[in-house]
Parts: sequence; C-alpha cells; structure tokens
Amino acid sequence: MLNRDLADEHAAVIRYLVHAYQEGEDTTVGASLLSRSREEMWHMHWLGMIIAKLGGEPVFQPAPYPYDPSSRASMLQSYREYEEKLIPHYNGEAEKVDDPHIRRVLLREAWESAIHARRFQRLLEKLSPEEAGGLPSGGGELPAGFLETLQTELAGKYDEMLRHIRMSWAFQDEGTAGWNLMDQAMEKMKHLAIFAEAVAEDGAVLRFKPAPMGALPSLEEAVRRAAGDVRNTMKRHEALRRDEELKKHGGVVVKLDLALQQEAYQAEEMEDWLKK
Ligand SMILES: [Fe+2]
Ligand SMILES: [Fe+2]
Repeated sequence: MLNRDLADEHAAVIRYLVHAYQEGEDTTVGASLLSRSREEMWHMHWLGMIIAKLGGEPVFQPAPYPYDPSSRASMLQSYREYEEKLIPHYNGEAEKVDDPHIRRVLLREAWESAIHARRFQRLLEKLSPEEAGGLPSGGGELPAGFLETLQTELAGKYDEMLRHIRMSWAFQDEGTAGWNLMDQAMEKMKHLAIFAEAVAEDGAVLRFKPAPMGALPSLEEAVRRAAGDVRNTMKRHEALRRDEELKKHGGVVVKLDLALQQEAYQAEEMEDWLKK
C-alpha cells in the first residue's frame, strides 16, 4: 500500500517539475509548480523512510500520472482532480493503520493534497484567456546529438540521486550516514536540473526513467559504488565542458562549472567516509 503511494508521489514530483521547467522557474505558473513539486518530494520522502524502516524495499518506478495535455487549463484541471482523488484515498488508508506516525503522515498527505487541489484551482483562475488556452512553447533548436547528451546526463544524475535517496532511507539508523547521503542527494537534484531545464526548454520529453536498483549492498559497498559513479560522471562532465555546442549556452556553462566542483567535493567526502 505504501509503495503504491510512493510511486504516486514520485509521479507527482516529476509531473510538476517537468511542467515547471517547461514554463520556466521565473514564471508564475513555473514557480508555483516547482513549489508543489518540492512538497511532493517531502511526501515521497516520508513514505520512503517508513517503508525502509519497516524493512521494505522502496519502489523507485514512478506510477503513471494521468493528465490532459491539450492546454495549460486542461493540465491544471487534471492536477486539481488528481489531488482531489488523493484526499479520500489517504484518509481511507490512515484508518487502516494503528502506528501513530504512519497514520499522521497519511492524514497529512490527505490534507496537503486538499491544499494542492485548492492551489491549482487558484492558479487556474489567475490565468489570462491566452495563457489558459496556450501551452508552454519553444524549443526544437538544439542539435539532436547535443540533446541526446543532455538526456543521457539527466538520466545519469537522476540515477545517482535515486541511489543516494535509497541509501539514505535504507541506512537511516546508521548514525549520520543517512543524513549525509540525503544532503548529497539534494545537491544531485540541483545538478539534474541543469540538464532537465535545458531539455524541457527545448520541448523534448524528459528521460526520467529509473534504472533497476538491484539488491541493496552494504553501506560501505553502496558508498564505494556511489563515489565511483560520481567520479565517472565528472569525467563525462569535463569532456562536456569542452563541447563546442555547450559553450554556446552561457548559463549552462556556469552551472556545469559549479556542478563539477561540487561533484569533486562529493567524491572526496565519500572517499573520506570509506576511510573512516
Ligand atoms: Fe503528495
Ligand atoms: Fe499533491
């Protein structure tokens, strides 16, 4: 039951995030969607913590998120309906559960879904007729090969991030390890955004496809693999930094320079944890 909810929350995170990137974070609709997406990330996180605490293996495959893509208004209406359905759903689940924390989380997901439905409704009412009938537009300008590179980097960083999140849930009782991993996962989310924003602005479908996680390794082995993953990513990003097409996108260049330094920091931190 909780894993189905986790997959639904994951779907909502991605739907609102992708739509926010398509609109642009600096627009009213984009900023609002980004804010909703962050709240869905908490919902996902609380469920993941509970599932792992109960000894379960969290499902990282997002559920489908049904929505009508014909216009901004139809999308926001779909979001409102989706959130409205979750209110009785989560309230019903809470009734089946005795554990006070799990019950409280499920009830909270119900009342926050009710707020989300109202926020989407208000956003819908604020749109001008042109905005309501239109869609986030633009794109189709990036060369196919470069777009494919961005998609690969997006998928790679999404995978790194999900593995960190999985570890932080699975090893939540191992001192500060869980928290340190979640801290890095949040930074990976920022790195993911560098590629996701560029792909979304170009109008392509974002490649949020989780790779199979495999059996959970020991904490030490998991950190060793994660350090190796980020070192490999750095090598690709260093090569990407020299790419002629990338150099045309000044904003991405600055963000990638920062990401490269942060990736080195993350790798060094993890290598240090392994020594200890
Ligand atoms: Fe939610
Ligand atoms: Fe929601």
